[in-house]
Amino acid sequence: MSSAELDDLLSAAHDARARAYAPYSNFRVGAALDVGDGHVILGTNVENASYGLGICAERAAIAAAITAGFRTFHAIAVAGNEGALTSPCGACRQVLAEFNPEMIVVYTTPDGVARTTVAELLPHHFGPFV
Ligand code: THU
Repeated sequence: MSSAELDDLLSAAHDARARAYAPYSNFRVGAALDVGDGHVILGTNVENASYGLGICAERAAIAAAITAGFRTFHAIAVAGNEGALTSPCGACRQVLAEFNPEMIVVYTTPDGVARTTVAELLPHHFGPFV
């Protein structure tokens, strides 16, 4: 995947971030999932007054993509608050690994953007059933 394509995916994640519902943490996150054939599925974090019910942008994107009928995920871009390290949380890493450990992950950092893979973020993920 070219760096221009990943730049576009990160730009889509920034667009999604603008729609985040994060009134409790004020930490807004957008995710953009490359599902192939030029299709991109977005997600944002959706918080709740009952704090533990909030969901992360990455898992919102995965749920939206599965609902839309996509199962092949090539890359995900994650954009968080300016200046923050916004690599996917542990729960999201496990959910991403379910579908493709080799998925490329780009995310915003205090220095700019980092690029890695799900397998690098979560080696030896749990997944004995598929
Ligand atoms: N959050 C995400 O959406 N993705 C992550 O990978 C890390 C955290 C959200 C959850 C919560 O709404 C806010 O960021 C602060 O933790």
